[in-house]
Amino acid sequence: MTVENRADRGVGELQQRRQKARLGGGQERIEQQHRRGKLTARERLDLLLDLDTFQELDPFVTHRTTDFGLGDRKFEGDAVVTGYGKVDGRQVFVYSQDFTVLGGSLSEVVGQKICKVMDLAIKNGCPLIGLNDSGGARIQEGVLSLGAYGDIFLRNTMASGVIPQISVIMGPAAGGASYSPGITDFVFMVRGPGQLYITGPDVIKAVTGEDITHDELGGAFTHSVRSGVAHFAFDSEEETLREVRRLVSFLPSNNTEDAPPMDTLDNPDRHDPDLASIVPTEPNRSYDVRDIIHRVVDEADFMEVHRDYAPNVVVGFARLDRRTIGIVGNQPSHLAGVLDINTSTKAARFVRFCDCFNIPIVTFVDVPGFMPGTDQEYGGIIRHGAKLLYAYAEATVPKVSVILRKAYGGAYIVMGSKHLRGDVNLAWPSAEIAVMGPEGAVNILFREDLANAEAPDAERDRLTQEFRTQFANPYVAASRGFLDDVIAPSETRPRIAHALEMLQTKRDTLPPKKHGNIPL
Ligand code: HXC
Repeated sequence: MTVENRADRGVGELQQRRQKARLGGGQERIEQQHRRGKLTARERLDLLLDLDTFQELDPFVTHRTTDFGLGDRKFEGDAVVTGYGKVDGRQVFVYSQDFTVLGGSLSEVVGQKICKVMDLAIKNGCPLIGLNDSGGARIQEGVLSLGAYGDIFLRNTMASGVIPQISVIMGPAAGGASYSPGITDFVFMVRGPGQLYITGPDVIKAVTGEDITHDELGGAFTHSVRSGVAHFAFDSEEETLREVRRLVSFLPSNNTEDAPPMDTLDNPDRHDPDLASIVPTEPNRSYDVRDIIHRVVDEADFMEVHRDYAPNVVVGFARLDRRTIGIVGNQPSHLAGVLDINTSTKAARFVRFCDCFNIPIVTFVDVPGFMPGTDQEYGGIIRHGAKLLYAYAEATVPKVSVILRKAYGGAYIVMGSKHLRGDVNLAWPSAEIAVMGPEGAVNILFREDLANAEAPDAERDRLTQEFRTQFANPYVAASRGFLDDVIAPSETRPRIAHALEMLQTKRDTLPPKKHGNIPL
């Protein structure tokens, strides 16, 4: 057979085309990207995915626009690299925006490429990971670009609760580029280059007169501490992508599967006599609930979500007896672990994620109640607190809770109580369950007696002690079956492990409905 007749006669050209496509916006733009301290779209995929597992799709797609001189500026693959690959041997679908091509801006065909991998991810039941580095809608393409965003948002919404969706903000994600991350389950940001906002500093200056930098407006600090839009922030791209892989390891691939178990030598029956010494007996003294979590879960491996946002509640993933669990814990070391607007929405979204993806929820309770104050009332604490209540009540995954110390008022009900379909509710002997703390209760119930008492302080102490002995303990709740048992702190890990094992076959449902109306 002559060379001209062979099927591989075009391979030379193919290789040249591939080589060109791999360069995106060209060598000079790649160097510019590196000078900005950023990796290229392909370098990022190499870090995210297992070695040599990336399979690219649509490398030869180009835009079709001729307006504003774009006819001469076509790039193979346009401004995004898309395809699939593996994380720890499990398939994921990916897109990685290429800032070297017209600032990673979203053209009609970039939108089509992204939608193609989104559709494949949904059909195949695999996580979708988007690496974002984009100046937003491609200005030269006008409504075509806006339409492409709409197509992506629609798919983000359809995929919600079906496959895990993760967004990583590695450069700008301006304008339309910010709403897709806003819908996805988890947002990672790289400190420095990662910037996420709806309207940039120039528009803000023109409209409100405010002067603000890109970083102050939409940097990692803003979103991981203030707004809560970002769940994770890390210093480098390498660390960020490593942590994305870690998160994926805790998650199932879709809503019909369980998360993969992780072998461990940590015995589920391990008792821990030191647990009791972490929680001070005085109800007002603080401690870090993460010290409890680390000691209870497998190998102290806890991936905290939203670590720096609303820190008075702690949420995150761990494993117990090899299986993924979602943990919610009040955090007494911050604002005494009180529930406020931000903690309620943070924990509610986490509970709902776990419920979507068959992840059992373990709740550690030590909560003085809901935050009082006009700020909170005017801000709608009723509506936002109700979200957490709603999320727990609605969740049908296994729900196990342990009351470590205080569980007062509405917060007792909200934090995974029996009344909201908690499956196994446990408490330490130090638990105090009451409408409010003993001091507050005594001040209300005995206001007149105290006013008339000869020694009001001594009388208040006596009544407080009496109240505590009579009501502020776990046994009233246990006598009603609101608690399934009172346990020694040292046996917390084995008792939760056994409860979760028992609940592995749990089936529970909601009444037939289109969807509920969570108080948004
Ligand atoms: C077309 C764009 C672009 C865009 C950047 N570029 N953004 N091209 N459409 N949206 C091009 C630049 O012209 C430049 O090309 C190259 O990308 C690199 O951009 P630079 O500005 O040199 O980079 P940098 O200084 O790092 O600034 C990055 C940036 C800035 C902050 C993202 O480019 C910027 O502000 N872009 C516009 C952001 C924006 O307003 N987007 C539209 C949002 S409205 P050359 O060839 O000159 O080097 C929107 C509506 C959708 O998205 C709403 C849907 C809900």
